[in-house]
Amino acid sequence: MTCVLRWGLMAVSSLLLSSITHAASQLNQVYQLSTDNTQLVYTVGEDGRLIFRYYGPRLSNTDQFAPWRSYNRPDCQREANYEAYPSFGLGYVNEPALSVINANGSLITELVFDNYVQQSSEGVIHGIFTLRDRVAAVCVQLHVEAYQQEDVMAQWVTIANESKGEVSLQRFYSSFLNFRANNYYLTHFYGTWAGEMNRVEETLEPGIKVVESKKGVRTTQSENPSFILSLDHPAQENSGHCIGGALAWSGNYKLSFEVDERDYLSVLAGINPFLAAYKLNKGEQFQTPKFLFTYSANGQGTISRNFHDWARRYGLHAGMKERPILLNSWEGAYFNFDEQVLTDMMDDAAQMGVELFVLDDGWFGNKYPRNSDKMGLGDWQVNAKKLPRGLQYLIDYATSKGLKFGIWIEPEMVNPKSELAEKHPEWIVQSPGREKITMRNQLLLDLTNPEVQEFVWGVVDKLLTAHPDIYYIKWDANRHVEQVGSQYLSSNEQTHFWVDYIRGLYEVYDRIRAKYPDVMIQACASGGGRVDYGSLPYHDEFWTSDNSDALQRVYMQYVTNLIYPPIATASHVSATPNHQTGSVTPIKFRFDVAMSGRLGLELQPKDIPAGEMAFAREAITNYKNHVRELVTKGDLYRLISPYACTNNHAANMLVSKDKRKAVLFAYCTGFNRRGIRPTVHLQGLDPAKVYRITEINKVSKRKAFWGDGNCYDGAYLQQVGVELQIARQYDSAVFLLEEVK
Ligand code: GLA
Repeated sequence: MTCVLRWGLMAVSSLLLSSITHAASQLNQVYQLSTDNTQLVYTVGEDGRLIFRYYGPRLSNTDQFAPWRSYNRPDCQREANYEAYPSFGLGYVNEPALSVINANGSLITELVFDNYVQQSSEGVIHGIFTLRDRVAAVCVQLHVEAYQQEDVMAQWVTIANESKGEVSLQRFYSSFLNFRANNYYLTHFYGTWAGEMNRVEETLEPGIKVVESKKGVRTTQSENPSFILSLDHPAQENSGHCIGGALAWSGNYKLSFEVDERDYLSVLAGINPFLAAYKLNKGEQFQTPKFLFTYSANGQGTISRNFHDWARRYGLHAGMKERPILLNSWEGAYFNFDEQVLTDMMDDAAQMGVELFVLDDGWFGNKYPRNSDKMGLGDWQVNAKKLPRGLQYLIDYATSKGLKFGIWIEPEMVNPKSELAEKHPEWIVQSPGREKITMRNQLLLDLTNPEVQEFVWGVVDKLLTAHPDIYYIKWDANRHVEQVGSQYLSSNEQTHFWVDYIRGLYEVYDRIRAKYPDVMIQACASGGGRVDYGSLPYHDEFWTSDNSDALQRVYMQYVTNLIYPPIATASHVSATPNHQTGSVTPIKFRFDVAMSGRLGLELQPKDIPAGEMAFAREAITNYKNHVRELVTKGDLYRLISPYACTNNHAANMLVSKDKRKAVLFAYCTGFNRRGIRPTVHLQGLDPAKVYRITEINKVSKRKAFWGDGNCYDGAYLQQVGVELQIARQYDSAVFLLEEVK
């Protein structure tokens, strides 16, 4: 940034040469985009650049941002100035949002403001800043959407090559934000298979902290493209200034947090530039994915609620629709089933009150039957030996039991032992001349290739055309990219793979959604490998993790729901001992945890001991009657963090928008010594409303709260709180709060 002053002197002369002239009124003009409670402010400097000025709580008067003291006034101390979309060249020495190799080989980009237009639709203001390079014919449009009620903003750019030659994009982030605080604390999310979405909070020191994925596909398993940034102090639930961010992209991403020599923090978010140079021919343009962000002046609780509200309304397929309770066959049967096993599971599911049966992996392949993960992937014909009467028999059986039917597919992938691999070796992602590395015995299909897109579309379309009653699809993706290489892309376009793969995937999804808007689709990628706001507009939910252990899920769902809404968080009651962790947990604990998200079951119902069946049925009824609506549309309040509690407790609640109904979940994550009981201070209630508090999902007459069944006003419940008698590991309690008039 110290170079800017030097550049400022040059700018005067280049301004004179510039073909872009600015009316005096445009210079020092303040451009602001506001939501109900937040604001983003830019000004155009005297040198014609669009400058980022402010992002934070909404101000009453933004005129005060002008005039901006320009750095080409020699007598004044230059104010910090960061461009709205900093490019490389002429002074910017931090990580730039944009770097380009121009048609003439020049590495310099110098964007100046051309014009601003604004459009409004219901609840959303969309501003477009047009910026043009002063010399090269490259045009950047910076888009900002301000979602009024949700206090969420979205930013992305389009970059157009208006020159006669070829332009190579080297870096093309979606968004740039800048902050000034005494300290910066970054919460980000990491994990692995069966252990997704752990949280870590770290102080940002001078230098660059990067959160990224270079895996191409299944990119959110080891890091998620989202974060919470807290200014001055570590993030608190209900106080302090923080920013939540999430990139809406399912491919390689990079989030960069740079504390520079002035102690300013610059945040870049976008597609990972790693080996991803993108060529734009004459007249072509490139659009980046959206980066979503939200600001809270009262802690991270508001960040989550803003994202959840936004997702339900704009970012998640059928975001307001209640989801059916499902039984998935995977952990109950794995690959070992025949018609009888499945119809027995359906019988039991129907009796328990389950509403949807999902047939997982193992139903397809004949030449290479899919009886394990070793073969058959890619051959989407029904396995005639296992299912001689075909899928329709199972669908009709489900229907006769009052169940909807769902099915697992993994159409982006192929086993080398498959008819598909034999027929179309050229569709497989690989590097010529090298031995292919399999992962879970499978390879990736090259979705940059329109023929492969057609095939993947065909897998879905044929299934849904042949069986229009299929209600639900679980779309899996069980490997990432290791040996990048496309036989479709030309040799000088290999770096396009990362972007074109995801664009190909989204194109297939667009077709699916256009023809099948009502089919429910779950995003699964070995569990939580595709949990991002790029994929969620196409999906109704995601499979949070292959780890179905209830205690693990207390932590994982706490973190997942920092950014993504509970209704999208598939959460299943599984067998005990748990198949991933070996832990033995009571059925009540398993239900009480699963009911805080999209409730499902993933076990062989026959393995539920007879004595526990009545409880399971009652819990399912409670979910339908009382909890589901709150999980779908309610506001989430985290009361006790499993991460932060000095004792072994966790609690959260969901409150209806009208504050007339709520559900409280409390869990013991470990043993608590005698006398240690959690007092839970409720949140989100109306202090003046009176609520009856009723425990549900009870396994004995013992009251987890001495006041069970009594009425209290919201102020009491929030200030005095509720002391719970849960002390042993895996103790849990669920309470319903209903307004009484
Ligand atoms: C992945 C998914 C599981 C299951 C299996 C089937 O691991 O995450 O839920 O569907 O594939 O092979």
